This record gives sequence, C-alpha cells and structure tokens, in this order.
Amino acid sequence: MSRPAIMKGCVLMNKQLRKPVIAGNWKMNKTPVETTALINEIKPLVKDASCGVVVCVPYIDLFAALEAAKGSNIKVGAENCHWAKSGAFTGEVSADMLASIGVPYVIIGHSERRQYFGETDVTARDRVRAALDAGLTVILCVGELLEEREQNITMEIIGKQIKIALAGVTAAELERVIIAYEPVWAIGTGLTATAEQANEVNKAIRGLIEQLYSKADADSIVIQYGGSMNAQNAAELLGQPDVDGGLIGGASLKAADFAKIVEAAC
Ligand code: PGA
Repeated sequence: MSRPAIMKGCVLMNKQLRKPVIAGNWKMNKTPVETTALINEIKPLVKDASCGVVVCVPYIDLFAALEAAKGSNIKVGAENCHWAKSGAFTGEVSADMLASIGVPYVIIGHSERRQYFGETDVTARDRVRAALDAGLTVILCVGELLEEREQNITMEIIGKQIKIALAGVTAAELERVIIAYEPVWAIGTGLTATAEQANEVNKAIRGLIEQLYSKADADSIVIQYGGSMNAQNAAELLGQPDVDGGLIGGASLKAADFAKIVEAAC
C-alpha cells in the first residue's frame, strides 16, 4: 500500500494523518475453502473501515483469498517470500511469484520464522530487498525476546534488526514498508505488552527512522504493534500515539474479533 497523497512531502506531527493498517496473520491455518468462507464473513464487517485491512495467508490460500477479496477493501498478503528471483530452493516461493498473481503485501522476518526456521536479520534484509524490487509492500517484523527485555537491551536488539533489514532501502522505497513491533514474549502467549510498553518501543522505532531517513519519513511510516492483540485490548493499544495499527495472529481467525480490532483502529 502506498501512503495517501496527503502524506507526501509534508511534515506530519499528527497520528491522524497516518492511515493505520490492521493486518491478520493467519499463520498455518485455513484451507482454501475455509479461506473463502472466512474472507466472505469478514468482508461486510469491515467494508466501511477507514484504516487499511490486510489478511496474510498461507501460500496455498493466496488464490482463494485474492478471489474472495476482489472488489472489497481487503488486501491480501503472503507470510514470507524467498530472496532469490528463482532457482534451486525446494519448497520456496519468490517475491516475483507473489507479485505475478497480484499479491500486494508480504510479511518478512516474523519471529516464528526466526525461531523455528533459522531466519536472521541478514535473510530478512535480502527478503525485504526482493519484495521491494517485486513491487510488494513489506510488513517487517521486529521484536525482542523476554530475556532481552529483562536485560534492558530491547532497543539495541530492535535497532539492530531494523538497521540490517532496511540496509539499502531508499526513502522512496520506505513508503512500501510497514514495521510491526512484536515482542516475542507476547506472541501467541496471551501476554500483551501494556499500551505504554508498546508505545514506548514504537516511538523509539520512529526516532530511529528519523535518524536513518528523515523526520517526514518517521512521521509518515506505519508502525504496528503485534502480540496477543484482541478485541478486548485493541482500543487501548491502538489509542496510543505511536501505534498505527496491528499485526494480529489468533484473533484474526475469528471474523467478529478481527472486525472489532479494525473498528478500534478507525
Ligand atoms: P498473536 O500473533 O496475535 O496470536 O499473538 C501475532 C503475530 O504473530 O503476528
């Protein structure tokens, strides 16, 4: 998603001028038939949303999701992509392949990919490069482990993740990057960062973007929070000045809950 024209070239002080994005991350859930059914259920509930609405689904569900979302305000994303254009990478899918079927979004660097599949900041950087080159919008996930938070090195960890993943990304390309702050200890655990904790890190990320790019880029970049966001706690989290939406796992699999989160963001 490119940012609204109003954001280009002007200095924004106000959260109201950033369009929040609520993205579902379905993870390894739903068959194509179930995908069609869930999107058909979500569609009428979010049709008047003023925020961006994205559902990121398993590769096998992408065609069904694109078809079901056609003509609606729901955008479709993949949950990962490979960094190479093509080649001997059994089981992988390239960013160009995603673009070729009309998928506009892709999640990169999710903590489950880092934790279970050996992905690193460097592979996140290479995937970001491939996704941007293919014309996709990236949802770049960053976040600290519980031990790292306890050692007070949260921003060092996140700063490193962001600096590496965005190495070589131009200011123009940054318009197609959303950052999702997802404390690893809050993902799928039911433990949510407090609204203040989420805002503190999101604000620090915005400060880093200002250092790396410019104040205008920092003011316009969408920075989500993710980690056990649900229909009950969304309004408080999304009400924070530096929280511009959410990346939602478990709660995105229930149409009514997902729609409530969308409503809280709008
Ligand atoms: P959760 O997952 O909402 O189930 O904690 C969030 C995510 O992994 O993006």
